[in-house]
Amino acid sequence: MNRIGVLTSGGDSPGMNAAIRSIVRTSLYHNLQVFGVLHGFTGLIHDDILELNSRSVADIIQRGGTILRTARSEEFRTEAGRRRAVEILRRRGLEGLVVIGGDGSFRGARLLAEQGIRVIGIPGTIDNDIPGTDFSLGFDTAVNTAVDAINKIRDTATSHERVYVVEVMGRNTGHIALYAGLAGGAESILVPEIPADLDELCRKIQLGYDKGKAHSIVVVAEGFGGEPQPGRDFAVSAGFRVGRYIESQTGFDTRITILGHIQRGGAPTVLDRTLASLMGARAVQLLAAGAGNIMTGYQNNRIVDVPFDEVFAARKEFDRGLYDLANVLSLA
Ligand code: F6P
Repeated sequence: MNRIGVLTSGGDSPGMNAAIRSIVRTSLYHNLQVFGVLHGFTGLIHDDILELNSRSVADIIQRGGTILRTARSEEFRTEAGRRRAVEILRRRGLEGLVVIGGDGSFRGARLLAEQGIRVIGIPGTIDNDIPGTDFSLGFDTAVNTAVDAINKIRDTATSHERVYVVEVMGRNTGHIALYAGLAGGAESILVPEIPADLDELCRKIQLGYDKGKAHSIVVVAEGFGGEPQPGRDFAVSAGFRVGRYIESQTGFDTRITILGHIQRGGAPTVLDRTLASLMGARAVQLLAAGAGNIMTGYQNNRIVDVPFDEVFAARKEFDRGLYDLANVLSLA
């Protein structure tokens, strides 16, 4: 193995740059040439590729986003697009590829692997919804950003004795909501994985006030409420639906904050930088050893190799124990 490539794909996440830095410098250390593919799989199809050296990745360990840019590629979903991608990799003499991204990106990576390309995946998504790893790059940073926001909201919530609904990201999963809600001391956490009775929630808020609570904070994952059903207004976000319901049922003055893409940016935390550095180095080691079709994961404090097949066969478990604990700790 002499030449490898790296790309970032799907939604960006803090720590991707630290992973790119680690991949480049580990490759150079092992005398491998390393190339950056710009704009994810789209850039691969269009041969948007440049060689990276040690200076290319200077001063990026602390930066959110991805210097390689990213995209959700429609073209790559077509067979013609994928054939073209493989052609480009072969023409450029790239014998291995590191794909940093979420499950959609890994599905793309596996399609390349099926065509004989050696691919290693690094989990990078703030959603933390990838099985086989305790944490994906960006999750810790996103949760810390959300908790910082909740702390600030708490100040004004107490002053006005209001209910605040804070909507966090998580299209299909509630991992961000769970950790941000627990660490932010929320009264309630609403996630797609667990059905919630909003009338019960209203009673809990009322009880809290009766017992002297100065405010209530409800953390809602954007995917709460599930699949669209006839007659429901899905132009309105989960946070607004919940906030509207609480105010109409309890009469409490309620405010809604949607944190949105703020959670996707910012300097990565120490944990994200460390995981990115370890996973980047491991990905290069695996390619150098001739391996492919593997994701680098983090389980019980150790970096592990997880075959793509295992990643796709599993579903990331929602931490029910943590959810129940958050409910106990938010008792009025
Ligand atoms: O997958 C990460 C994520 O941030 C989700 O939490 C969110 O639903 C989605 O991406 C937003 O995607 P986009 O940036 O394309 O609007």
